[in-house]
Amino acid sequence: MSERSAMMTAVVAAVMVLAVLLAAAPIVRGQSGFRPADVAEGERLYADFCASCHGADLEGQPDWRSVDADGRLPAPPHDKTGHTWHHGDGLLFAYTKLGGKAVMEAQGLDFDSGMPAFADELTDQEIRNVLAFIKSTWPERQRELQAVRTEAERLREQAGQ
Ligand code: HEC
Repeated sequence: MSERSAMMTAVVAAVMVLAVLLAAAPIVRGQSGFRPADVAEGERLYADFCASCHGADLEGQPDWRSVDADGRLPAPPHDKTGHTWHHGDGLLFAYTKLGGKAVMEAQGLDFDSGMPAFADELTDQEIRNVLAFIKSTWPERQRELQAVRTEAERLREQAGQ
């Protein structure tokens, strides 16, 4: 092989390596940015961080539909008898991370919420895991309806609303 063609071969090889790296970059980024939810860890976190208010069996607090003496709503159930499945993933995540007051305020509502923010206690992935555990307890119908809400939420976001 002449010196010139050896150099050409090296250049072509370098370009091919670069092309492969560029093509793989989004896949690698996607993998490190998003892990599939760990339902078993979510169950443990639920017991530690959520069960005291929302109930060990996700049953919520008694009379959760009526405000208490302080004018706040008690913690609702997270099982199919509650309304957690009426909300899309985005809202459930924001409610858990930022707390009820901040989420309501963002919608222009002055609301005294008993739902604390978990941003300092749980990572985003841990929040996703807890929510995945809650969802795993729902029957098929609730899971399907909630998935439709999530899709509607996504479309609203895409439309810039
Ligand atoms: C100190 C009590 C308390 C703890 C602990 C708590 N919550 Fe709540 N949560 C509430 C109350 C009270 C509400 C209802 C009031 C409201 O909507 O703001 C609520 C509402 C919610 C809602 C929105 C309402 C709905 O439709 O279900 C979500 C989601 C939620 N909690 C998730 C969680 C998760 C996940 C955890 C554990 C990481 C948790 N909560 C821990 C008190 C609590």
